[in-house]
Amino acid sequence: MQSNRPLGLPRMIAGVIGVVVVVGAAAGFAVAWRPAIAAIELPAPSSFDPALVKRGRELAAIGNCNDCHTVKGGGSFAGGLPVQTPFGTIYSSNITPDVQTGIGRWPEEAFRRAMRSGVNRDGQHLYPTFPYDHFTNVSDEDDAALYAFLMTRPPVDAPPRANRLSFPLDQRFVIAGWKLLFLRRGLYQPDSTRSAEWNRGAYLGEGLAHCGACHTPRNGLGAERSNAQFAGGDVDNWQAFALNKQSPAPVPWDAEALYVYLRQGFHPDHGTARGPMAEVVSNLSSVNESDVRAIAIYMADVFGAPSIDDRKRGEAVLAQARSPAPLTLDSNVNAAGASIYAAACATCHETGRALPYGGVNLALSTALSSPDPRNAINIVLSGIRPVEGERSPIMPGFAASMNDGQIATLLQFLRDRFSNQPPWSGVEKMVADARQSQPVLLQTSSGSHDAPRESMRREKR
Ligand code: HEC
Ligand code: HEC
Ligand code: HEC
Repeated sequence: MQSNRPLGLPRMIAGVIGVVVVVGAAAGFAVAWRPAIAAIELPAPSSFDPALVKRGRELAAIGNCNDCHTVKGGGSFAGGLPVQTPFGTIYSSNITPDVQTGIGRWPEEAFRRAMRSGVNRDGQHLYPTFPYDHFTNVSDEDDAALYAFLMTRPPVDAPPRANRLSFPLDQRFVIAGWKLLFLRRGLYQPDSTRSAEWNRGAYLGEGLAHCGACHTPRNGLGAERSNAQFAGGDVDNWQAFALNKQSPAPVPWDAEALYVYLRQGFHPDHGTARGPMAEVVSNLSSVNESDVRAIAIYMADVFGAPSIDDRKRGEAVLAQARSPAPLTLDSNVNAAGASIYAAACATCHETGRALPYGGVNLALSTALSSPDPRNAINIVLSGIRPVEGERSPIMPGFAASMNDGQIATLLQFLRDRFSNQPPWSGVEKMVADARQSQPVLLQTSSGSHDAPRESMRREKR
């Protein structure tokens, strides 16, 4: 500071800033601080009621705990999955009852606190990649069932992996600020004007099933945008389509279609669930049917009743899909795309062939009507793998047989023929990016439904 300048003002400002920093840090520390909860001896598996454990198994499936907490080649629920975020990589924790590396010494109270406010047993804040911003609504009874289920799994010795985050985000107390802004804690408050089924669906869909974690867009700090609920989000280079009025689905969804899709992963008017959604429906196929129905009823309400126009458009698309107009090759403006389609795709998609090889008429495809071409690109590159031991849809991948330009040409033809939307831009580059970013997606999810599946979903993207 120059000696001839009056010193009062800058010093005062510095002083004020100093006070603000100290008060802020103290306040931050006060909200950040959480006590440790004393460790317990590992409870014997036999101390848990088998009915509670069974219920916990279903709740864990609804919560997709296996998808994030199990990696290929690792033990079930042993963690270690790298979850990519715009801020760095966060590894999921070992939630088996191993006493050294898992949650074996956690009392139920500590588990409930983790689910409800994202704090570990030691009192440290957890990153919201663990979707506790949804799990916060889970009831005491359901947390008790989840705890009973996890504490009766085989313990796996799997030490935590170090996150890759830069300063200051690598400091867990910073998460306290995020929570202050974005974590709205509270148990589910039933809406007495709605049916019990609707309330059940809202409790699960907003809570444990965390549908919005993928289907709601996020702000710059990684929190779901509360004014754009279910408006469509991003996950692992897939677009999780809008599930509200902005839905790009050519045929409007209703509760019955949602139920079938969520339960079986396929609906004849809507096609198949792929990518991260395949894992969700695979889990939902193993749970209580009435819970899936409740979620469908609630989500149908989130979509809202279709307008008369939307309904008419949907009917027209269904009619067109049942008796498609003949494919004209020569006169088509995109003759190159049309002939690839005729040669490689039409036999399965336009002949009314039955499953597993019969694809839906592509006029029904949300992927082709979506403003974002990534899902359509992923499907053409990687195809659809059969689910082991089931009669499920099969489509070959074309990553090896077509180059980026051919796939882009084909997709523009499909967009033009099967949607009434404007052409996509930059498709060829996006095909190249998709090849780069997710070679593993060439293996979509498969697996048995009662055992947690090995997930590679977030390993590469
Ligand atoms: C979208 C991915 C994702 C899902 C789904 C998920 N988790 Fe996690 N979970 C994580 C990540 C990542 C962490 C580590 C967070 C951290 O280190 O701050 C974590 C941490 C935890 C912890 C804290 C463990 C510890 O040692 O600190 C518990 C308990 C937990 N999860 C339980 C569950 C349960 C139960 C479910 C299912 C109802 C579930 N998680 C679903 C990603 C997920
Ligand atoms: C892990 C991320 C993730 C979660 C969690 C998730 N979804 Fe999805 N969902 C997706 C993705 C990605 C797609 C697009 C899949 C595709 O292209 O086949 C999708 C597609 C859908 C579709 C098809 C929409 C259409 O118009 O074709 C519906 C319906 C749906 N999800 C409902 C749900 C519901 C209900 C839940 C909660 C029970 C849920 N999703 C949870 C990622 C997710
Ligand atoms: C061996 C039969 C077969 C061939 C060949 C085939 N598909 Fe498929 N395709 C399927 C099946 C089965 C499905 C899953 C059911 C469904 O969603 O249509 C599917 C799904 C799709 C979807 C997703 C539709 C939706 O649900 O949104 C698209 C897009 C698609 N295929 C495009 C193509 C393109 C482009 C080609 C040619 C390059 C092609 N398919 C070749 C069988 C096939």
